[in-house]
Amino acid sequence: MILVTGATGLVGSHLIAQLCKTHKNIRAIYRSDQKKEQAKRVFLHYHNDATAFDKIDWILADINDIPTLEIVFKGITHVYHCAAMISFNPDHYKKLRKINIEGTANIVNLSIANQIQKLCYVSSIATLGDDPTKNYFDEENDWNPESLNSVYAITKYGAEMEVWRGTQEGLNAVIVNPGVIIGSGFFNSGSGSLFSKINKGFNYYTCGVTGYVAIEDVVTPMIALMNGEYTNERYILVSENLSFKSIFSSMARALGKSAPKKKVSPFIFQVAWRLQWAAYKTLGITPSIYKTTAKSAFTNCLYKNVKLKKALNYSFIPIEESIKKTATLFLQE
Ligand SMILES: NC(=O)c1ccc[n+]([C@@H]2O[C@H](COP(=O)([O-])OP(=O)(O)OC[C@H]3O[C@@H](n4cnc5c(N)ncnc54)[C@H](OP(=O)(O)O)[C@@H]3O)[C@@H](O)[C@H]2O)c1
Repeated sequence: MILVTGATGLVGSHLIAQLCKTHKNIRAIYRSDQKKEQAKRVFLHYHNDATAFDKIDWILADINDIPTLEIVFKGITHVYHCAAMISFNPDHYKKLRKINIEGTANIVNLSIANQIQKLCYVSSIATLGDDPTKNYFDEENDWNPESLNSVYAITKYGAEMEVWRGTQEGLNAVIVNPGVIIGSGFFNSGSGSLFSKINKGFNYYTCGVTGYVAIEDVVTPMIALMNGEYTNERYILVSENLSFKSIFSSMARALGKSAPKKKVSPFIFQVAWRLQWAAYKTLGITPSIYKTTAKSAFTNCLYKNVKLKKALNYSFIPIEESIKKTATLFLQE
């Protein structure tokens, strides 16, 4: 039986929808009925009815609750670990460590204890450290503790370390490192909220570049890597490296809005994150940018996808196509 953690999130919900096409025995963990319903709506983008969704063995569980996880792991042979907390707020550091590092350690330990055949862990390009000797990122880029790393990146790196530690203890694992994921179903959080912002007329952009990938190009390689002979390796999942201006413009076009026109300078951004932080500390208003995101908004990060392409003989979906499809589903919601 296959176990999926984070099945009520962007990656996990699209993953279970794909897995249900070929597998009958799937167990998924969830934390609230509301998020399970959201995952069901995503499922219905792929399937005519919810029969297969209802046949999933859903168990209410938290990845920090070891006694419940022990029950969850009974009879499991393969684990897709997608659960994580995504936040760039330094005040969330302890909670991020608890969920991303300790939670992953729990999944790794139970995978070893239950002799599961393989684990696929969803990491992030955020764990790839910058290397001053080259102008691109690939799977060889080691963590750089001297960079201005976000609390999210630090804890995703810590989680990767738990998986690598597990491989030293006999675990068979693959790690995927996706870029910013474009996909439907979760338009109020994470990368999905970009569609909501652009749709409301967001008019600003910065000059940074980063890697993007369609949700289908996250879950399809995950399943192929799980089913193939690939082991103890990590793979960058990025279709294209694009500027924020071009991504925002594509989203605006697809939503029938005008493209953001105001270029924000690094100086304005530096002032803005400080003002937002002050407003957060005094009035409790959630910031939209932080010191670390202010840095990445102006950095040109180019990610190579050659390793995955070669391993699976794989072609990535162009981002423009993925944005059009996601925007259509956004407008239907
Ligand atoms: N979205 C991106 O652009 C992106 C890019 C690169 C890498 N990633 C990685 O991809 C993975 C999935 O991300 P996503 O975009 O799908 O995030 P998401 O939509 O925020 O989903 C996160 C999932 O983790 C679950 N979760 C969080 N804390 C948990 C806990 N303590 N116990 C059990 N489940 C818990 C959430 O459950 P609830 O629904 O109950 O909250 C949800 O199902 C993460 O590891 C993330 O770091 C995402």
